[in-house]
Amino acid sequence: MPASSRSVRFATGNNGKMEEARIILSPFGIRPVALNGKGVEIQADTVSEVASYSARVASRKYKKALIVEDAGLFVESLGGFPGPFSSYAFKTLEIDGLLKLLKGEGSRRAHFASAVAYCTPSSEPKVFEGVVRGRILEAQAGSGGFGFDPVFLPDGSAKSMAQMTLEEKCAVSHRGRAMRKFGSWFVTTEP
Ligand code: IMP
Repeated sequence: MPASSRSVRFATGNNGKMEEARIILSPFGIRPVALNGKGVEIQADTVSEVASYSARVASRKYKKALIVEDAGLFVESLGGFPGPFSSYAFKTLEIDGLLKLLKGEGSRRAHFASAVAYCTPSSEPKVFEGVVRGRILEAQAGSGGFGFDPVFLPDGSAKSMAQMTLEEKCAVSHRGRAMRKFGSWFVTTEP
């Protein structure tokens, strides 16, 4: 951990994301501080558009520089569903519903995408993206992480994301990739 530490507000109501952000940003000397709620969430085709819009609205509403992260699971044989609607799909279908949808499908290829948007009250959002590719397991494995972690097996891994420690998950995850891009930019660019 670098000697100096800076904080950045993270507008999220998801404790899992907050904990992961702490792990991912710590090597950059950045300490995320929770700002509850994302502001406004829109419907859009990409997580980048959702994160960008939310960060712009929240930074102006709270009059603070902040980050918003939006993520989703994109399943190839379902045409990218649930994608930006993953939160709704998780609440309504749950994991078992997703597994039912995939029964008999030849391909179980999928990816998670994350977009981290940083915005100040007087600027336009800057967006950092990350993706992890893999497949949807036939059954749930593990109890760590959150959301669809128990059924997502990243390429090259023998463990589902829910069987990994949070550090292991963050090393390969969509959120880890996007947040590390933000971290490198933030420490070199923002005053
Ligand atoms: P949102 O970014 O809060 O809109 O998250 C959308 C949904 O995608 C969450 O409710 C989870 O179901 C799923 N999701 C996002 N990131 C992850 C992750 O890291 N692991 C597992 N599921 C995730």
